[in-house]
Amino acid sequence: MIHRQVLGVCFFIHLFRVFADKENAHLTTPQILTKHGYPNEVHHVTTSDGYILALHRILPDKNTTHKPVLVLHGLFVESSSFVSTGVKNGLGFLLADEGYDIWLGNVRGTPSSCNHTTLHPNRDPKFWDFSWHEMGTIDLPAMVDHVLNVTHQASLHYVGYSQGTTIFFVMMATHPTYNAKIKVHMAMAPVAYLGHMKSVPFGTTWNNILNLWFKVFKINQVPPNNLFFVLRRVCSFSFKLCNLVSMSIFGYKTNQEDSNTLTYFLTHFVVPVSRKQGHHYMQIIKSGYFRRYDFGRRKNEEMYGSSNPPSYNLSLVTTKCHLFYSRDDLLVSEVDAARVCKELGGACASSNLVNGTIKHPDWLIGNRIGELVYSKLLNIMADY
Ligand SMILES: *[C@@H]1O[C@H](CO)[C@@H](O)[C@H](O)[C@H]1NC(C)=O
Ligand SMILES: *[C@@H]1O[C@H](CO)[C@@H](O)[C@H](O)[C@H]1NC(C)=O
Ligand SMILES: *[C@@H]1O[C@H](CO)[C@@H](O)[C@H](O)[C@H]1NC(C)=O
Ligand SMILES: *[C@@H]1O[C@H](CO)[C@@H](O)[C@H](O)[C@H]1NC(C)=O
Ligand SMILES: *[C@@H]1O[C@H](CO)[C@@H](O)[C@H](O)[C@H]1NC(C)=O
Repeated sequence: MIHRQVLGVCFFIHLFRVFADKENAHLTTPQILTKHGYPNEVHHVTTSDGYILALHRILPDKNTTHKPVLVLHGLFVESSSFVSTGVKNGLGFLLADEGYDIWLGNVRGTPSSCNHTTLHPNRDPKFWDFSWHEMGTIDLPAMVDHVLNVTHQASLHYVGYSQGTTIFFVMMATHPTYNAKIKVHMAMAPVAYLGHMKSVPFGTTWNNILNLWFKVFKINQVPPNNLFFVLRRVCSFSFKLCNLVSMSIFGYKTNQEDSNTLTYFLTHFVVPVSRKQGHHYMQIIKSGYFRRYDFGRRKNEEMYGSSNPPSYNLSLVTTKCHLFYSRDDLLVSEVDAARVCKELGGACASSNLVNGTIKHPDWLIGNRIGELVYSKLLNIMADY
């Protein structure tokens, strides 16, 4: 009993120490931009189903030509992930320095886009009843239209990372007219197929148990807010435990030398997602198909008129896509990336296996990501 209390007290003392060390940990995207002297704006877009989304714009230099670029973040992160590593390595800053008019999107449910015209995120479970299907079919088209409207342009450049590429493919498969509105898609760690993922615990029984558990206890956000709080502290506490949790929830683990990166990732970056959004990815891993949410045979019949969910057809993408993937990315395997390229057909403009050890979060926070990936990405983009 006493032991437990002592442990509790030690843990709390530790929490305070961590807080004191990381005073900058939770700056919002506008705060980071302003801190580095980049003029910025927040735009709100209301979707047809009532979600109020925030777009963070880095204003272009007045004298540059107008080249809007919409940049979409991955799962478990939001727009801040493109700027929080600072001016030298943050993709948002590098794009701004090239004279683009940057629009950093935030999909529904992220802290910046956690609002709705009628539903309350904490009171209405219905608020969380969405997956990346809704992000691709509703959020992304709304963001694209808003940017084009404000900038008076006919089309824009698009940069997606991980889930940011998934929702692009969903948008094009469901709204092919949007091909005309995108000049090029720069796809880092493209995710449509995940059947060859090397990260072990994902898609296994363990994750189905987790999903059931979340469902039974009506937990709509993953990780749930309170668990999440503890989780971040666990990582500054025990490296091994942190790796175990990180691997089972985020599919990412690291070695001891890089443990700071992992802690940094979990404390600065990670935001909760909806249970359904996470589960939809698990279905993709398990089935090997890129298709709509699987409700189970009976409800599928009702929703889709077939016992299996319909697939997203990648051959409907006609916008040129440049894919970037890495051997060391445990989530996006070479095989799965190659399959995306094959199914895109003529729309797969280049498929770049990048050099260097780039694990999944390294696309955002890797030390050498600027020279290994962003420089090439910017070069290719400039041609459109
Ligand atoms: C923009 O262009 C004008 C006229 O060409 C010039 O006077 C001004 O210094 C430029 N501003 C910047 C920020 O480069
Ligand atoms: C949510 O949106 C409503 C309506 O636009 C607004 O009044 C409210 O301030 C927003 N809440 C937050 C937390 O941004
Ligand atoms: C475009 O902007 C105008 C005002 O500038 C607004 O009235 C209109 O509803 C906007 N359209 C879309 C599709 O956002
Ligand atoms: C995908 O779309 C292409 C082009 O419209 C069509 O030829 C093909 O049959 C579709 N594939 C499936 C599986 O629906
Ligand atoms: C990887 O390195 C080789 C040799 O230096 C180079 O030719 C190739 O373009 C690089 N690949 C990428 C994607 O940067």
